[in-house]
Amino acid sequence: LRAVNIGICGLGTVGGGTFSLLQNHEELLAARAGTSVKVKHVGARRDNPECPTGDTPVSRDIFDVARDPDVHVLVEMIGGTTVARELVEAALRAGKHVVTANKALIAEAGNELFALAAQHGVALRYEAAVAGGIPIIKALREGLAGNEIHWLAGIINGTGNFILTEMRDKGRAFDEVLKEAQALGYAEADPTFDVEGIDAAHKLVILASLAFGIPMSVDAVFAEGITKLTPEDLGYAEELGYRVKHLGVAKQSSEGIELRVHPTLIPESRLLANVNGVKNAVLVEGDAVGPTLYYGAGAGAQPTASAVVADIVDLARELAAGQLCPVPSLGVAPEALKSPSF
Ligand code: HSE
Repeated sequence: LRAVNIGICGLGTVGGGTFSLLQNHEELLAARAGTSVKVKHVGARRDNPECPTGDTPVSRDIFDVARDPDVHVLVEMIGGTTVARELVEAALRAGKHVVTANKALIAEAGNELFALAAQHGVALRYEAAVAGGIPIIKALREGLAGNEIHWLAGIINGTGNFILTEMRDKGRAFDEVLKEAQALGYAEADPTFDVEGIDAAHKLVILASLAFGIPMSVDAVFAEGITKLTPEDLGYAEELGYRVKHLGVAKQSSEGIELRVHPTLIPESRLLANVNGVKNAVLVEGDAVGPTLYYGAGAGAQPTASAVVADIVDLARELAAGQLCPVPSLGVAPEALKSPSF
């Protein structure tokens, strides 16, 4: 294989960041992948002035990329679960590998999409779907593979953590900080996903699927966001020696696997209490390793592109070697899940 050809669909914050990172690090990535990695085709309904595409062909119909026989890996950066799902299905059916950062899509349709990918002998990778640039999928799938996971807990929405940090440190108003998070490219297209805990629920479902070998199960999550919190709440917590953080928690209990996202009081001396701004952090406890902590930027163009490109390099390396790396099937019965109450 002389080059692994990439098709990028969507040139928004993350799509544009991915395009730039692939261009800027072309030589480095080729050395790491053992083959060159080229963006061959872009599908975008409109141009992104911050991401000039140069000589790369751009189709206004994103499905042209899924139909392009020269594209080996389609990178889905459209977002949402309607058109994005159709595009991913079309690509998998056409025998293309898919890389996505789309947590809503993986959490809601992952079970069917992984089955479709397996049926067509192609890969569907999603490192960027959880915690932005933190390689938490790889950590759970590979680094901690020798462990039984007892529980995991994390700050997994950058926008929400940015809002809580700015409210507490600078006394800024919720709406004003949310607008800034949108301008910085942190927030979802529909920011209620960030502030109502829906985005964190999607990410928690993905983490739990890997940690506990269960199917994606959005309905099993108890979800509460940060919209009811006031600066006074944050101030009172502070007086008592606590910080309020929005956490996602997945743990094994005698009643089954419990999945929940909600604001939590954390003693200020704890590491998680000191994760500020757009940063995310995930604590995972395994039986052999004990507690481990993963920290980094949870949103934004370049950190998220970093994770997308990691998947692309993995795939390019595997394609160059002529062998896809098998990933765990998530097959345990959903009865393992506790009902979503708190
Ligand atoms: N809106 C998401 C967040 C983007 O703020 O965490 C990264 O998944």
